[in-house]
Amino acid sequence: MKRKLLVTSALPYANGSIHLGHLVEYIQTDIWVRFQKMQGHECLYVCADDTHGTPIMLRAEKEGIPPEELIARVWQEHFDDFSAFHVNFDHYGSTNSGETREFACSIYGKLKAANLIESRTIEQYYDPVKEMFLPDRFIKGECPKCGAKDQYGDNCEVCGAAYTPSELRNPYSAVSGAKPELRNSEHYFFRLSDERCQQFLKEWTTKGTLQPEASNKMQEWLKGELSDWDISRDAPYFGFEIPDAPGKYFYVWLDAPVGYMGSFKKLCNERGIDFDEYWKKDSTAELYHFIGKDILYFHALFWPAMLEHADLRTPTKLFAHGFLTVNGEKMSKSRGTFITARSYVDHVKNTEYLRYYYAAKLNGSMEDIDLNLEDFVAKVNSDLIGKYINIASRSAPFITKYFNGQLSADLSQPVAGDNLLTELRVSHVFLQQWYESREYSQVVREIMRLADRANAYVNEQAPWDRVKMSQYMDPGHPFSVQKTCSICIEAFRILTVYLSPLLPSLSRNVADFLNVQPFEWGHALSAHALCNASIKPYQHLMTRLDPKLIEAMVEANRESLKPAPESHSPARHAETQVHHQPILDTISIEDFSKIDLRIAKIVHAEHVEGAEKLLKLTLDIGSGKRTVFAGIKSAYAPEKLVGRHTVMVANLAPRKMKFGLSEGMVLAAGDGNGLFLLSPDEGAAPGMKVK
Ligand code: MSP
Ligand code: ZN
Repeated sequence: MKRKLLVTSALPYANGSIHLGHLVEYIQTDIWVRFQKMQGHECLYVCADDTHGTPIMLRAEKEGIPPEELIARVWQEHFDDFSAFHVNFDHYGSTNSGETREFACSIYGKLKAANLIESRTIEQYYDPVKEMFLPDRFIKGECPKCGAKDQYGDNCEVCGAAYTPSELRNPYSAVSGAKPELRNSEHYFFRLSDERCQQFLKEWTTKGTLQPEASNKMQEWLKGELSDWDISRDAPYFGFEIPDAPGKYFYVWLDAPVGYMGSFKKLCNERGIDFDEYWKKDSTAELYHFIGKDILYFHALFWPAMLEHADLRTPTKLFAHGFLTVNGEKMSKSRGTFITARSYVDHVKNTEYLRYYYAAKLNGSMEDIDLNLEDFVAKVNSDLIGKYINIASRSAPFITKYFNGQLSADLSQPVAGDNLLTELRVSHVFLQQWYESREYSQVVREIMRLADRANAYVNEQAPWDRVKMSQYMDPGHPFSVQKTCSICIEAFRILTVYLSPLLPSLSRNVADFLNVQPFEWGHALSAHALCNASIKPYQHLMTRLDPKLIEAMVEANRESLKPAPESHSPARHAETQVHHQPILDTISIEDFSKIDLRIAKIVHAEHVEGAEKLLKLTLDIGSGKRTVFAGIKSAYAPEKLVGRHTVMVANLAPRKMKFGLSEGMVLAAGDGNGLFLLSPDEGAAPGMKVK
């Protein structure tokens, strides 16, 4: 029976690059979709960039471009990265689209009509300098439990405590450094505490839509009363303005899942597909969302509740997966294991190695999966090259050399008792079930078992010995070299059909090499696909993975500075590593003009005996020379400084120091994480005033 399936992966945030962690999900989904398509089902795969919210707004601002320009650029990067890994969406859209806006507004309208939206005034931190309300992740301060400095507004990374931003001690805005004020604002809430929602969700989360461990987790959440969900944000915000509520915007997580519908709608327009057939309440089409375990809450509670009460269908199932670790640890920039998709492509090139490795590790559970880089190289080389490719590379050359590329007319088994091809075909039943249930590690294990079987067969038949004996060169001989090698190639063909969802590009190349149509699942069973076929001369289908490429990739991803915050959280990507200090009291322009800043050329620099932090600089300021002791030894070698231009405070009272008289100061940026001497643009000359 032909099924209709609509499949999604989570929509990646438009403010960061795709990394190998993300790819776990997109590769997992793509394999499943390809498998369904190979079965002949109508399976559509859509995704989009998740483009709204504060981090994206601020990042665009920082880059000095409109958010639309930022998200257009990132869209292209994401799309290219996914294509490189053969993640084949039927449509890749953006949540910042007319379709998504329309659906978000109409769903909101239905929830409102059902009396499930309520407005309430809440108290929230406000940044008086930046003139905006601050999301929790943009407020920092001292942990109320352990006192650790510079902790985010929702939880402490040092002691793990969770709290609200108002509990932070000495809070400051991570955007401007200003001290935030509590202000009132009207917010809109989706009333999840309503009996209808609670009742619906209790049922929905226990009727087989979730994996058992996910369902259990949701029951814990549902035990107490669900809190209402705050779905509005105040301007300035990059997102959709709420109809009839000027200055109020939908919170990014309200329109993000609606983006699944928006992207699908675009596909429907392109291909003339009936949208409602997939989304109407009584739809018989299947709807699956692949997601990471971190966003289960949004997909298992908010999203189905929204759909249900907006009179739309709910997902058939959610498939949540675990998180990627690299070499047994969280991905880390300092260790070079926070690997971007782009850098993998640049260094390793062949992306099917990774698809294969992830498949070998994935199952239908929410367990984390580990990319062990040494094991990755070993497994690719031993499984793919040493076992699978080996079957073709050992048999095809004989066919080309002695039989003009022609395979045997009859590929039934020559040896009584040996049923290699039958055994290979029988496995399609299990493989089908394992693909369907996302037990890809079982798929890989089984295919490798079959590859071992095929290799044992080649070894037994040893065509390399038989080519020297004339009786075996007669195609009529039951153990002829032509027949043995043809059987090997048929075995290789069957295994390639099975591997196609994992290795789509290789699969196409194999079909081309064998002169057959692109593979469909049923082809594994056709016994005569290659009888009498002529194949092309064997060329390398896949080469060994050189561990040096992996080393180079890790090196390229290593961040030599201090370890950066390690998270896929958008909020943290949006920030640099600056420890924001509060802005000082306001001064007048007169105060400022008292400071005489001048361009200075460093003409001499030397270490100071006995001084831990100081360098002695001789500065040329046009009208004369000055000696300055600067505390920049930790960041600069003296010889690197000579000849450089910088900025100095020329009218600072001279200061007597232990090592001599310091006649001013040079300007440098720094907050304890490094020191950066200021430089003027080219053309500035010693003595010029800086104002
Ligand atoms: N924008 C939201 C999803 C909205 S869906 C309506 C989001 N974006 S994300 O870019 O942070 O993550 C996209 C997907 O990648 C999520 O499903 C997330 O779980 C997954 N992963 C991100 N980092 C990951 C790992 N390190 N390991 C495995 N999956 C990871 O969340
Ligand atoms: Zn703490």
